[in-house]
Amino acid sequence: MGKLRLGINVDHVATVRNARGGDNPCPVRAALMVREAGGDGITAHLREDRRHIRDRDVERISAECDLPLNFEMAATREMIDIARRIRPHATCIVPERREERTTEHGLDVVRLEAELKDITAELADAGCRVSLFIDPSVAAVEAAARIGAPVVELHTGTYCEADGETRETELARIIEAARACGETGIECHAGHGLDYATVKPIAAIPEIMELNIGHFLIGEAIFRGFTGAVGEMRRLMDEARADA
Ligand code: PXP
Repeated sequence: MGKLRLGINVDHVATVRNARGGDNPCPVRAALMVREAGGDGITAHLREDRRHIRDRDVERISAECDLPLNFEMAATREMIDIARRIRPHATCIVPERREERTTEHGLDVVRLEAELKDITAELADAGCRVSLFIDPSVAAVEAAARIGAPVVELHTGTYCEADGETRETELARIIEAARACGETGIECHAGHGLDYATVKPIAAIPEIMELNIGHFLIGEAIFRGFTGAVGEMRRLMDEARADA
């Protein structure tokens, strides 16, 4: 089983910065610490309302950090143009609603198939590896394959929020969707809501190659420091992989 990559989402460093205005804490500084902390990549979501990460943050992360940048973006003309200019390693297309607190669902890939096909082709043409953030279902993976996306990221939020039997059911859906990725040749990533208590069953799924984790780790960094918080996640992921 390949090593599982860990992408660190630095959005919420910017949330804290923006609460006061000014420059601190700086998400670029966090991005520059990711490698030493045990992460493999940086994720940042430039939302339409710029509530956390801002344009300058993405430009600086892209220019100053040598780890791959996974640029999360809505499927809008504005964001496509920014991605084409910055040319991040990867663009993860996510659904976005202004009134939501965070990305609550995966893309409706079946309804948006034609539109996503064009956007995926345009971003691929600009040199970006396109990932579609989808709910964990076989139908969504099959639609992603028709769209031509090389990568999908499975939304783990429902699994993380559930408990008991419902969590087991959600985990089974993720396992099944990950298996469908393996069968269709799509690279499988996963993320949203993961913490120390929920990460191991996801990290043990052999088809999953990358996890993207943010909110919990930025919060945990308050208590353990950034390197300690990320290092513990890395340890749990490696342990789950070795035991699988
Ligand atoms: N992956 C995607 C596509 C996301 O939209 C987010 C949240 O921005 C994450 C991963 C990280 O989720 P969390 O902050 O809950 O760890």
